[in-house]
Amino acid sequence: MAFTRLAGIIAIALASSHSAYAATTGAKPVTCSTGQVTANAACCALFPVVSLMQSQLFDNGECGEGAHSALRLSFHDAIGFSIHGGKGGGADGSILQFGDVETQFHANGGIDEIVDDQTPVWQQTNLTAGDFLHLAAAVGTANCPGAPRLQFMLGRPAPVAPAPDLTIPEPTDSVTSILARFADAGFSPREAVALLTSHTIAAADVVDPAIPRTPFDSTSATFDSQIFLEVLLKGRLFPGPNNSSQPGEVLSPLAGEMRLQSDFVISQDSRTACFWQQMINNQQLMISQFKAAMAKLQLLGQNTAHLIDCSDVVPIPRSFTQAIKYPASFSQADVQIACPQLPFPSLATVAGPAPTVAPV
Ligand code: HEM
Repeated sequence: MAFTRLAGIIAIALASSHSAYAATTGAKPVTCSTGQVTANAACCALFPVVSLMQSQLFDNGECGEGAHSALRLSFHDAIGFSIHGGKGGGADGSILQFGDVETQFHANGGIDEIVDDQTPVWQQTNLTAGDFLHLAAAVGTANCPGAPRLQFMLGRPAPVAPAPDLTIPEPTDSVTSILARFADAGFSPREAVALLTSHTIAAADVVDPAIPRTPFDSTSATFDSQIFLEVLLKGRLFPGPNNSSQPGEVLSPLAGEMRLQSDFVISQDSRTACFWQQMINNQQLMISQFKAAMAKLQLLGQNTAHLIDCSDVVPIPRSFTQAIKYPASFSQADVQIACPQLPFPSLATVAGPAPTVAPV
């Protein structure tokens, strides 16, 4: 049964990689011994790794916890970097290879689980930790409808040392400190907002340990712009037991949903509010900006001249074309608009009573 399902997945992957190849490259295709087509023979070795990831990490192609945490892991690995030096090797896989050190960092709460899940799968491959981890982020993200097909470059050397502590922003940090950390790693405020698109497929386990898997928006299995809307809605409650709150969270608009303090303050700050608002119901802008910022993130600290573009091994995500909507019972009157100079998009409201968002 499991074998039949895996064979089915491989067949679909084969078919889509052929058409993807034709659509995206002009170079002479290489047909791998496994039947897939790619722009560069060196990428052939990755197709079996992608199948392995799908079956052993992502429940056969789901946009679930494995996929979400693979994306978070790529950020926590890569941001261990400074354009001024001295803060780690960037997107080098050090968080996987030196997991015993990096999972102890305060901002890495809950990361031990995905490191434990990925390590035995990584060890079945010949990839370096950095190539494995950043390919897993691209493949996991591709399982989420609406996501961009992220770039994947092959050839990162093995990491030489763990990243130092205190390179990863925390939800209790101020906007100034978060933007300073992103700038130190080479990212503009707009790129920081673009990267936060990732919270559209996110949930928290450790912010409030009493309510694991509490999502940040009401559509955490879809890579849509709902997160940018819901973070702006007036807060009413905390999702924890008896309305209790934890450091790093602020009032959320929906029962069962968690709002990170950092997302909220970034949505309200004059340096970032307009770009945040522009993402709402603007799927194409959102995924193009996220894709570009992720391409930069996943290459931090790497010598790109030595890397091979294997983006065509990444599955093609299903598209998301619907207009996003206010959750039931909400309207524009509930929006905490922080960019009055731009028109706020006109959105419909889902019918019915205010929802309770289920854990993911
Ligand atoms: C200001 C910067 C950021 C802060 C303060 C932040 C903070 C957090 C926190 C506190 C969680 C919940 C952890 C838990 O309780 O389990 C989380 C989850 C997550 N974050 Fe971020 N984050 C930031 C930026 C990013 C970026 C840039 C990415 C990716 C490019 C990212 C991807 C994710 C994902 C995918 C999850 C969900 C993981 C899961 O559901 O297992 N975050 N983030």
